[in-house]
Amino acid sequence: MFVIAQLSDLHVNGTHRNRARIEAAFDYVNSRADGIDALLVTGDLTDHGSAEEMLEARKLIASPLPTLITIGNHDARPSFNDVFRPGTDPTAPVNEALTIDGVTLLSADSSLPGERRGFLDDQTVAWLDTAMTGAAGHVVVAFHHPPSTLGMPMMDSIMMSDPERLGALVDSHPNVAALVCGHAHSAAVTTFHGRPLCLAPGVASTLNLPFEGSAVINRDQPAGVAFHMLDDDGRLITHYRTIPGT
Ligand SMILES: [Fe+2]
Ligand SMILES: [Fe+2]
Repeated sequence: MFVIAQLSDLHVNGTHRNRARIEAAFDYVNSRADGIDALLVTGDLTDHGSAEEMLEARKLIASPLPTLITIGNHDARPSFNDVFRPGTDPTAPVNEALTIDGVTLLSADSSLPGERRGFLDDQTVAWLDTAMTGAAGHVVVAFHHPPSTLGMPMMDSIMMSDPERLGALVDSHPNVAALVCGHAHSAAVTTFHGRPLCLAPGVASTLNLPFEGSAVINRDQPAGVAFHMLDDDGRLITHYRTIPGT
């Protein structure tokens, strides 16, 4: 069984509260690293995408696991590239791949500079197509913005725009076993073009469902992590855990 840990929506903002939750989440994952094959961090690393926040994020995103980092709408390509990928074109989309034990993980940039909604630009769609075509085994695709509605009106208004660009890729690549994302700060599972679409809970906070309260953000819920297990047939089983002490 191939095991992927996924943490999302860290929202580093210089506060002790968020830092403590992020540290606890990484401690929870890292102390179990022997049973985990890879870590995905799916965006909103920071609150404002500033250089200071990105430098703090780099310190906090520390794991012995092979790690892929996605950016979200609260981040910014220039500060991410400067801190995490020095020498890269500052405006380049953050698209990275990792193949471990025959499983290919693709982390795609769904951020749209200056906007809260998401979008897979032409460069990213072409990169995904090439990577999916070249993968010898199962593929798991990570990005920040959900490509489908979630029954969460505010988030649904800032989901991935034109999701059929991703849908066409999924349709033409049967080796895509699952899609994982963040953004909605809610442990949620649905399907997209017949594949599992799993959302990681938020580390920083949870977003209320319409019947949970009038406030959008719920800071009382604990931080959480998703553990995605992929079996040899490419079937995904996702387990969610809350982080003790958060
Ligand atoms: Fe977020
Ligand atoms: Fe987001």
